[in-house]
Amino acid sequence: MNDLNAVDAPAARRPPNKLPRGNDVCWCGSGKKYKKCHEELDTDWLRHEKQHLEASRVRKGKLSPTRPVPAYIPRPDYALTGVPNRENARNVRTPEELVRMRKACLAAEEILREAGALVKPGLTTDAIDAFVHEKTIALGGYPSTLNYRGFPKSLCTSVNEVICHGIPDDRALLDGDIVNLDVTIFLHGMHGDTNATFLVGTVDEDSKQLVRVTHECMMKGIEAVKPGRPISDIGRAIENHANQYGYGVVRSYCGHGIGDVFHTNLQIPHYFDARSNTKMEPGMTFTIEPMICLGSADEVHWNDQWTVATKDLRRTAQFEHTVLVTDSGVEILTQRPA
Ligand code: MF3
Ligand code: CO
Ligand code: CO
Repeated sequence: MNDLNAVDAPAARRPPNKLPRGNDVCWCGSGKKYKKCHEELDTDWLRHEKQHLEASRVRKGKLSPTRPVPAYIPRPDYALTGVPNRENARNVRTPEELVRMRKACLAAEEILREAGALVKPGLTTDAIDAFVHEKTIALGGYPSTLNYRGFPKSLCTSVNEVICHGIPDDRALLDGDIVNLDVTIFLHGMHGDTNATFLVGTVDEDSKQLVRVTHECMMKGIEAVKPGRPISDIGRAIENHANQYGYGVVRSYCGHGIGDVFHTNLQIPHYFDARSNTKMEPGMTFTIEPMICLGSADEVHWNDQWTVATKDLRRTAQFEHTVLVTDSGVEILTQRPA
C-alpha cells in the first residue's frame, strides 16, 4: 500500500466495539501498532457516527387521546387503577388454565402478525396502536398494556435505539428504521405476550444482522427450556450467542412468569445469573424476550416515565415468545402450530 492510500483511505468498516490501545497491534491485520495505523481514522469515524446518531435520534412525539375499551370486554384487575395485584401469582398452570392460555397466546400471535404486515415507511406508531387496539377488542380481549402501571397505549412500539416500552405516537416510520411491536392481550382471563422487530423499507446490513441474531438469541433461549433444569440455562444460551457477535445484552429487563397475572415474580434473565436457580417445571408459563444491542447495553430513560433507549444511541432489537414447559421440553404458545 502506498503512503497516499494509507492516509486517504477511509476506514473500510466500522471500528470494532472493543478498540485496541495505542501500542497494541491494530485490529485491521496490518501488524502495525494501532496508533500508527487505524487509531486516527477510527477516532474520526466514531465522531462522525456520533454526530449522525445524535441528529437522527428518535424524539418524543404527540400522543392521541386514550382509546376506549367497550364495557362488555372483561378487564384485568389493574385496568381502572393502573396497579396490578401480584399476590398468589403461581407459575405452574392447571390443564384448564392452559386451555385458556393457549387461546390468549394464539390471539396475541395473530395480532402481532397482522400489525407487522402493516409496517412501512410513513405509517405512524399511533396508527399501529389503533389497529392493535381495535383488533384486540374484535377478538374479545383487552389490550394488556393499556393503563398497566399507567402505560397509555395498547402496545409498545420501540424504534431504532429504543430498547423497550416505547409509546405509540405521531412519529411516522422512516425508510431504514427498525421497529419492535410488543403485543399483549388479556383474553379468557389470561395474558398472551409476544413481540418482534420489523424492518421498515430498506435497512442497512448491520441492523439486519442485529435483528436476525436477536431472533436466534430468543430461539436459543427457548431451546434451553427443559424440566428439571435451572432458569439460568436460558440466559446462558442467549448471552453466549450474543457475545459471539460482540453485542450487548440488556440486563435491567427480563422475561417473566405470565398467566392470569401479566408479570409474576418469576424473572427470566437474558444473561447468565447463577442466582436464577429455580428449576423449570412442567406446566410453567413464562416469556423469553431478549433485548440485544449493536453496541453497549447501557440505558437511558426518557422523561416520559416509560421509554428506555441505549445510551450510545446505537440500535437494539428484541423478540418475545410466551412458552410452556412440557414434560419433555418446551412448547411455544405464541406461535401457530405447524
Ligand atoms: N409487553 C411487555 C413485556 O414483554 C410489557 C409492557 S408493560 C407496559 O413484558 F406497561 F410497558 F406496557
Ligand atoms: Co413480556
Ligand atoms: Co411483551
